[in-house]
Amino acid sequence: MTMIRSCTKVLFTSLLLGAVSMASASEPPSGQKLFKKCSICHAIDKKKLGPSIKSMSSDEEVLRQVITKGKNSMPGYEGKLTSVEIDALVGYLLENR
Ligand code: HEC
Repeated sequence: MTMIRSCTKVLFTSLLLGAVSMASASEPPSGQKLFKKCSICHAIDKKKLGPSIKSMSSDEEVLRQVITKGKNSMPGYEGKLTSVEIDALVGYLLENR
């Protein structure tokens, strides 16, 4: 009897944990939120220290490369952002140009 009970408990706990990890995995990072990190130097249609989103390259690879590795006074975000977060930012830039 107690055996069955503890098994049920283990099963229930793993179902619960599974549901929690699925919930966080299914929520992609928001490019708009992440862009707050960039907004000291970038805006959608105004030049700041860096170019406006409207004047950025439309080439996904160029965008990803500059965000990852940096360029001149543009800091690289390798190791600070995950590739999933960088993809979300690239998507945000392309949507707003
Ligand atoms: C300290 C200021 C600064 C911050 C913070 C910054 N950038 Fe930049 N960024 C620049 C500058 C300056 C350039 C122009 C580099 C050059 O071409 O010499 C640039 C260039 C770029 C480019 C290349 C555009 C093109 O078409 O060549 C992209 C893409 C970019 N930034 C995205 C981002 C993103 C996304 C973030 C936030 C994660 C960010 N930047 C944060 C200053 C900054």
